[in-house]
Amino acid sequence: MNKEILSATIQEIFSNHRGLLAMDESLPTCNKRFAAVGIPQTEEMRRRYRQLLITTPGLQESIGAVILFDETIRQKTNEGSPFTSVLQEAGIIIGIKVDKGTILQPGFPNEKITEGLDGLPNRLQEYKNMGARFAKWRAVIRIGENMPSRGNIEANIHALARYSACCQEAGIVPIVEPEILMEGNHTLLQCFKTTARVLKNLFYNFYIQRIWLGGIILKPNMVISGTGASHTGSIGEVASYTVECLKQSVPAAVPAIAFLSGGQSPEDATRHLNAMHQLYKGELPWILSFSFARAIQQPTLDCWKGDDKNTVAAQKLLIEHAATNKAARMGIYTPS
Ligand code: 13P
Repeated sequence: MNKEILSATIQEIFSNHRGLLAMDESLPTCNKRFAAVGIPQTEEMRRRYRQLLITTPGLQESIGAVILFDETIRQKTNEGSPFTSVLQEAGIIIGIKVDKGTILQPGFPNEKITEGLDGLPNRLQEYKNMGARFAKWRAVIRIGENMPSRGNIEANIHALARYSACCQEAGIVPIVEPEILMEGNHTLLQCFKTTARVLKNLFYNFYIQRIWLGGIILKPNMVISGTGASHTGSIGEVASYTVECLKQSVPAAVPAIAFLSGGQSPEDATRHLNAMHQLYKGELPWILSFSFARAIQQPTLDCWKGDDKNTVAAQKLLIEHAATNKAARMGIYTPS
């Protein structure tokens, strides 16, 4: 394992207070988001939308890296430039989603596991040759009656550890994403306990599987009550529950944490990150940043609607949301 390469990639991604833009929606997820705003669900429309994102002037001011999907890393602009070249010229690091999505875990009704380990070393090599310097693997964990089960947590984190080992061996930084879903009626405290349980198990398993903690990026959920919960925490409560949970569960050897947004509104996700930095200024052992998809992209997608006459306005929204999250990363975001 070449530790210098892994460390250099991580430092570069987060340099100048930047974060990540996740734009690696799988075909079904991307199509679902397109359908919701009336955009035709074709490869060409997905190409045009992703082109809009990556050609946004000045994106690199707030975004150090983007996560791409397999279809996207192979696509080109209208002028025929590979997307990868556009990103490299802008100084934005390229990452790639390498998991193959989730399936129901046999024997565990309502719980899912993530597929994609078979053949992973070869696929990593192919993506590396295309310019990818980091990868992403997402596991999903549900809170509910008797969920998550021990068997589901262990199966998911074992896959995350094996994926991470393959990435580090290939000189690719693994983004490790154990997402506790927001769907459900759970309280803030239940989310806190489950997130801590999953993360503590994860890092124990990473120790067994010989993962070098200095060469990973953790992508967790914020600690937040379920979408059907009767009481939602304040911005300050979510911020403090989240940071206290991470402080108890994530070793200081991990260089960087970059949150997913998980279905929060763009405003909430930004305010939560901002509050964490205001409340814990100077106390955090890791870089604490963002790797949002919906919380950065949604206003842009709603504005574009598949019509190129909206491109400039849509790109302006992208820049604004990227910049507000950079400000939140510094604890200096103000809603105005
Ligand atoms: P959201 O920010 O929309 O949750 O997406 C992040 C992500 O990469 C999911 O895998």
